Amino acid sequence: MRRTAVDHSAGIARHDPTKPARPTTARRLPRWSELQPLLRPRPVQLDPTQRRLSRALTIADLRAVAKRRTPRAVFDYTDGGAETETSLRRAREAFARVEFQPRVLRDVTVVDTTTTVLGRPAALPLAFAPTGFTRMMHHQGERAVVRVAEGTGIPYALSTLGTTSIEEVAVAAPAARKWFQLYVWRDRGAGKELVERAQAAGYEALILTVDVPVAGARLRDVRNGLTIPPSLTLGTVLDAATHPWWWVNLLTTEPLVFASLSSWEGTVAELINQMFDPSLTVRDLSWLRESWSGPLIVKGVQHVEDARMVVDHGADAVVVSNHGGRQLDRAPTPLEVLPAVVEAVGDRAEVLVDGGVQSGADVVAAVALGARACLVGRAYLYGLMAGGERGVQRAVDILSSELVRTLQLLGVDSVRGLEPACLRLRP
Ligand SMILES: Cc1cc2nc3c(=O)[nH]c(=O)nc-3n(C[C@H](O)[C@H](O)[C@H](O)COP(=O)(O)O)c2cc1C
Repeated sequence: MRRTAVDHSAGIARHDPTKPARPTTARRLPRWSELQPLLRPRPVQLDPTQRRLSRALTIADLRAVAKRRTPRAVFDYTDGGAETETSLRRAREAFARVEFQPRVLRDVTVVDTTTTVLGRPAALPLAFAPTGFTRMMHHQGERAVVRVAEGTGIPYALSTLGTTSIEEVAVAAPAARKWFQLYVWRDRGAGKELVERAQAAGYEALILTVDVPVAGARLRDVRNGLTIPPSLTLGTVLDAATHPWWWVNLLTTEPLVFASLSSWEGTVAELINQMFDPSLTVRDLSWLRESWSGPLIVKGVQHVEDARMVVDHGADAVVVSNHGGRQLDRAPTPLEVLPAVVEAVGDRAEVLVDGGVQSGADVVAAVALGARACLVGRAYLYGLMAGGERGVQRAVDILSSELVRTLQLLGVDSVRGLEPACLRLRP
């Protein structure tokens, strides 16, 4: 059958291309009174640190500043993981797989970000993870971090490998919630002394880290020849030309040493393998439980049965953690292990999680999956490297504003209202 073409344009006036088009918009010169209100020059920020920090909108931005501001070996020590860095990568990928399930038409005018951690209030479901050699990242080191913890109202954990002493940290931020992280030395007496000092200095909780029987293979450190304290080699001297302020600060402030070790010269791996006790077992947990009267947190749990075991032996909280991917490579991914651990011990102990937390939305996801709070390591260290105490504050401000916004967009008005139904993990 033949179809007849119908001309739908019949009756529509067509433009004659030989005639000039009639303009649709009449143009004129703008008046000064109209231009003036549009002229809003940005205030000039004369302080270079403030300028850098205010331009950083995400933790990734702070990381980029940190990378420029610190010698390569120092940045890599902070940023890197063990071996192929697969554990680290997977931790971040797990957060990327989160798909939130927002609910609408709920009043989110006011959002309550507070929670309790170990039975005491925390302004955010966040704590600063213990990190060694913090004064190497920036000369203000642990003092800067604990002060931000104090001002924000979140706990701060000082590492056994800290570069500021237990007592100095306590003096720097007397009102902060302070936890002391213990590595058990071969010399048990030395460990016991640290525990007693932490108790005497008013530390609230003890964290026992259990995922370091031996040092992980952090290949970036080996390639960079990182030693503690940094060695003056041709490479580091050349580096000083590109990061002069880092070196000036290192050499003109108190010497960079381990505050809880008499003296050490060598690599991090050598230190760990020589000083740490690989024969540590759960029996030592009972010993520690007797010597420490406050809450005891076990950090580095990666298996449901281990979570049960440490809680059976007196742990008040566990941190599901693979040490930020710095120990066993291809370790279980903390966010993925979290729900099973919460299911197994959540009625008897608090479950915290860390590894790869780089945004407030990550914190929301972890809490929705049952974590009481997240520990963050690199996120605040990037801030510290980017701008000392102000940089750590910037990191917290970024995380907290992302957390609030994510809750509002999710239709949830408080951290306590988060539940597993708030998200799903894409395959
Ligand atoms: C530079 C650096 C040093 C660390 N030092 C320690 C330490 O001394 N003791 C410890 O228990 N964990 C240590 N960790 C692991 C953190 O406590 C935490 O588990 C990890 O950083 C979490 O991953 P994230 O950095 O992706 O947040 C360190 C992590 C980093 C990045």
